[in-house]
Amino acid sequence: MGKDVDRPDYIIDTNQYLLIHDDVATIIDPGGIEMFSSVSSAFAGEVRMSNVKFIFSSHQDPDVVSALALWLSITDSKIIIDRIWSSFISHYGAKPNNMIMVEDGGMKFNMAKDYAFDIIPAHYLHSPGQLNLYDPISKILFTGDIGAALIPKEDLKSKRRPNVFVKDFDNHIKYMEFFHKRFMPSNEPKKIWIDRVSKLDVEMIVPQHGLIFKGKDMVNRFLNWFDSLNLGIYSK
Ligand SMILES: [Fe+2]
Ligand SMILES: [Fe+2]
Repeated sequence: MGKDVDRPDYIIDTNQYLLIHDDVATIIDPGGIEMFSSVSSAFAGEVRMSNVKFIFSSHQDPDVVSALALWLSITDSKIIIDRIWSSFISHYGAKPNNMIMVEDGGMKFNMAKDYAFDIIPAHYLHSPGQLNLYDPISKILFTGDIGAALIPKEDLKSKRRPNVFVKDFDNHIKYMEFFHKRFMPSNEPKKIWIDRVSKLDVEMIVPQHGLIFKGKDMVNRFLNWFDSLNLGIYSK
């Protein structure tokens, strides 16, 4: 795990994750074309590419999954995505035979013989077909763009060793506020999502941008902050 403090300014900072159980791996939100070579070489140090069987895409955005065609060229994997995006991500090289389409209500997904993760709907936060992945063993909730923070490179560089966890929640708010207010359309889906994930045993909230909320206290601080935020705000 780490942050790339040398990425060009014109590219949004993203997080890529690898979920491994026994000898089966799922890549979570593999990222854009421009970072494919560095992400694939980092993952190759952790897992055989032939063991990568699934690519989970929280939603359809280019920063999430535009490198899909490249990943499909080096793995024998299937792409898991919300059904409403299935024909759209065909433009990234997916075909019906390598897609697993998730219905609106989510599902339990058997990744390995004795292991399943939960796919949890998080629609309109921000994508109309957004999905979360919950791992019941580590109790990590991968939230895609929920909890995303846009942290300037300078702020990451100022630390001696860039941290991947939120340390000071109050200070972190300024990196999250604009994104959530501007990219998420309304409060109703947020309430539904908070209600849903509050019933889960979550030790970590892991977004696709920014830093990770580690520990129940941080998870609850994030949920409370998000609950109180008014979404769908823009200035003319
Ligand atoms: Fe997005
Ligand atoms: Fe994103």
